[in-house]
Amino acid sequence: MLRRISVTELRVGMYVVDTGLSWIEHPNLYSVEGEIFSEAERVAICQEGYKDVFVETCHGRYKFSDVDVAYRKEFEKEISAIATTEDIRITSVDDEMEQALRIHGDAMAYAHRLHHCVRSRNCIDLEGAKRLVRDLVLSVMRNRDALLTLVNVLSEERYTYSHCINVAVLATSFGNFLDLPSSMLEELGTAALFHDIGKIVVPRSILNKPGKLTEAEFEIIKRHPRESFHMLNRRPGISSNVANGVLQHHEKYNGSGYPNRLSGESISLIGRIISIADVYDALTSERVYKRSILPHKALSIIYSMRETDYHPGMAERFIKCVGIYPPGSMVLVSNGHIGFVCASRSDSPLTPMVKVVFDAHMLPLESYTVDLAEAKELSIVSCLDPADYNLDPRMYLVELEDVLQNYAV
Ligand SMILES: [Fe+2]
Repeated sequence: MLRRISVTELRVGMYVVDTGLSWIEHPNLYSVEGEIFSEAERVAICQEGYKDVFVETCHGRYKFSDVDVAYRKEFEKEISAIATTEDIRITSVDDEMEQALRIHGDAMAYAHRLHHCVRSRNCIDLEGAKRLVRDLVLSVMRNRDALLTLVNVLSEERYTYSHCINVAVLATSFGNFLDLPSSMLEELGTAALFHDIGKIVVPRSILNKPGKLTEAEFEIIKRHPRESFHMLNRRPGISSNVANGVLQHHEKYNGSGYPNRLSGESISLIGRIISIADVYDALTSERVYKRSILPHKALSIIYSMRETDYHPGMAERFIKCVGIYPPGSMVLVSNGHIGFVCASRSDSPLTPMVKVVFDAHMLPLESYTVDLAEAKELSIVSCLDPADYNLDPRMYLVELEDVLQNYAV
């Protein structure tokens, strides 16, 4: 499990993880991946002014042993214990998938057009956005697992366009989980869609820089929420809730965010929700300078940030919403078979529905779907990385013909 610790707790033998969060949003996070081999190396990291570090407790010579098992159990217990109102799914994930693919395909085409329009003419198609967000909200209300699956398995290659769509899906799914009314879900979806539009003014050499940003470069990055706000504010159809949510998406609960170092209750609910959805998507997406992180690892990173970055209960509720094993995750089941999570259960986040496709030797078998909440004798043993097996999860969760039909860009 990934854990965030202070650099003063770092020890020789611990394995530091590159989360991909480091250089852009978290300049005080040390994240050159690898094991700490010497005391001199440890001291040097402290002296360079880094404050935090993420370590993988299963790697490296340092033994976290029982402490880590206890931490994992506490994490699972805390998520499972969160009370929720009845989590109704109007349609099954299979029935929703066809619609979700069409909506996601349209959304990607919209994001593509938006990017080029804003870059060339500073125009924003607000009518198109309104239709798109309404479709997203309705799909999420019917069954959020369909769009959440697509977020996790479909859009890795085109981060520039997919990020705003993914954040809109994640934010509206979370808003729906929190029982927000549909009018607020539409404001939330609109703010999520446009949250990073101000990045258009940030040079690509800074946005895609693989190394640590200089102080001056970070100051340029920090301007983008204000730029997004000014591009949207007072446009017809954009409410102050939307504009302020966009402005606040990098603020943090403890006041260490930007641009206004807001804290606690002064950050709007829309700003709080986009902030958590934004970090989840940044972690789980492949970027020019980093590989993606598996969804369940991204959630453990978000969990470890719960007391500093997020309002009490927000990180835990977000994890409960997407599931400890989010849709699209590749998992090893206790009978030795391997499959992909196809639907989460917020009443039982450790036991999602899994579509099993391989036997214990990774040989294809006649696929079957198992509801682990019903099949009490089975459980998830671990999460696997499809990239390690050269697998494309969409081959197993989505009809490929539908993908080709719905993705023109
Ligand atoms: Fe941002």
